[in-house]
Amino acid sequence: MNIGVFASGRGSNFQAILNAIQRGELPARVMLLLSNRSDAGALAIARSNGIPAIHLSQKQFPDENSYSAKLLDVLREHDVQFIALAGYLKMVPAAVVRIYRNRILNIHPALLPSFGGPGMYGHYVHEAVLASGAKVSGATVHIVDEEYDRGPIVIQKTVPVEQHDTPETLAERVLAVEHEIYPQALKAFAENRVTIEEGFVWIH
Ligand code: GRF
Repeated sequence: MNIGVFASGRGSNFQAILNAIQRGELPARVMLLLSNRSDAGALAIARSNGIPAIHLSQKQFPDENSYSAKLLDVLREHDVQFIALAGYLKMVPAAVVRIYRNRILNIHPALLPSFGGPGMYGHYVHEAVLASGAKVSGATVHIVDEEYDRGPIVIQKTVPVEQHDTPETLAERVLAVEHEIYPQALKAFAENRVTIEEGFVWIH
């Protein structure tokens, strides 16, 4: 399965995907790493792995239509069949979501539908979890649709919230789980072990 990874930051989930491929645990190929940030660490990871590292941002275009047309060209040129958002902080244009229906995943550092939606990213998520008094948190892989963090859930895994947790200590515990479940979710799609019934996703 030919994957296009989108990232805005350091790219630790991207690295986890590459590690799974290199260990022979994920039958897939990363065809490109695309970032909206020219200084994203994920671009450097791509370059050091000989993967096309592409900086593309809506800011470079007069409107969303020209941006999404360019994005679709880039995806087509690189034969991308499946998109993995990995620490990507921008909305995917609706035109791309439509063409890649049920073939775009995102990883979120909380148990959706709780603690999700616009503005819920990075440390804001963990601050909200701690402020809520929740005793568990975790990570969610979900299908991307036209709204932030709302698409059907594919895999979730929980972590305990400890008494003296800070957003940083909780983020670290959740990130370790993200690196486990993202490759697992992609593997299920790559091996055609996913069924989607009435908007619910089941892996078998
Ligand atoms: C992670 O917490 C991920 O859940 C969120 O972005 C954060 C950074 O991801 N989507 P990465 O280290 O850049 O992969």
